[in-house]
Amino acid sequence: MKALLCKQHGLPDTLVVEELPDPLPGPGEVVVDMKAAGVNFPDVLIIQNKYQFKPALPFSPGAELAGTIAAVGDGVKGFAVGDRVIASTGHGAFAEKVKVPAKRLTALPDTLDFDTGAAFILTYGTSWHAIKDRAALQPGEAMLVLGAAGGVGLAAIEIGKALGATVIAAASSQDKLAVCREHGADATIDYGSEDLRERIKDLTAGKGPDVVYDPVGGGYAEPAFRSIAWRGRYLVVGFASGDIPKLPLNLALLKGAAVIGVFWGDYVAREPASFKRDLHALFDLVAHGRLKPHISARYPLAQGAQALDDMMNRRVIGKVIITN
Ligand SMILES: NC(=O)c1ccc[n+]([C@@H]2O[C@H](COP(=O)([O-])OP(=O)(O)OC[C@H]3O[C@@H](n4cnc5c(N)ncnc54)[C@H](OP(=O)(O)O)[C@@H]3O)[C@@H](O)[C@H]2O)c1
Repeated sequence: MKALLCKQHGLPDTLVVEELPDPLPGPGEVVVDMKAAGVNFPDVLIIQNKYQFKPALPFSPGAELAGTIAAVGDGVKGFAVGDRVIASTGHGAFAEKVKVPAKRLTALPDTLDFDTGAAFILTYGTSWHAIKDRAALQPGEAMLVLGAAGGVGLAAIEIGKALGATVIAAASSQDKLAVCREHGADATIDYGSEDLRERIKDLTAGKGPDVVYDPVGGGYAEPAFRSIAWRGRYLVVGFASGDIPKLPLNLALLKGAAVIGVFWGDYVAREPASFKRDLHALFDLVAHGRLKPHISARYPLAQGAQALDDMMNRRVIGKVIITN
């Protein structure tokens, strides 16, 4: 089988496609024929050895996939050869065949095709855990989403609308903001050309957003936090800008506000039953047309490095996937 491999840490152009022996499932594992694998920002970090999780070289990146089970190891219950599944893998999904612990599998509902299934768990799982569980967003509240046309950002817009909030989307271009509006954003801010604080003030009649969803960090964090409403919740989701901001904590005191960390991967590992409950709530929202994963491009495995390069250089809108 073919796999996209990271043999030395570096930028996407250091990745290579190589032929490897087919994996065999050990006890409690299955092998999945990958049909589609979602590309996520952590893939860009993991190949540069900049992610919190550091697999030994050589490895394939790829944190989530959809496919059919090709082989089942001893002791696996509830899954059989031929089943349609999705899985969060951490890494390893950018290969034709992927060995996955059975506990990381979820049956793919008939309502979802493989491409959608591959573009779903990580972004919607993260944004649901962040917004519903950590921030407890309420109907009628206002939420500001930074990096709103990215993977977790677009999912955050749709989840905010499904929960009855007013959603303000902030992104770096009018093309990106147009997609945010298509996915439900009530108002938009082009932070490439507009003053973030002034626009937030205008759009919230001076009150500020109740929740700020921040997967970008860098220079947007402080103006967004300064704008937050009384009893606001600031969700620390990621640092796609490459810069971890430092916030003056007097601002938290002055607004009675909370800075809330979001670590979806550890949440899944520590609270698996809650994660399964989240997934079923999300499947239900997709089945009712309330969530519409946006796949803007598909790449064959041989061009996987290009997918990562596009993500790194802010060219991706919504999700891109690698197909097999
Ligand atoms: N906490 C968790 O559990 C968790 C889970 C999943 C992902 N994450 C993190 O969330 C962040 C977003 O992930 P994603 O998969 O949604 O990525 P993505 O699709 O690439 O979206 C990130 C967005 O950040 C903005 N951005 C600003 N400066 C950037 C830069 N220098 N390089 C790249 N993007 C930049 C871009 O929007 P504009 O061009 O509009 O600014 C882009 O759309 C990442 O930091 C990721 O590690 C965290």
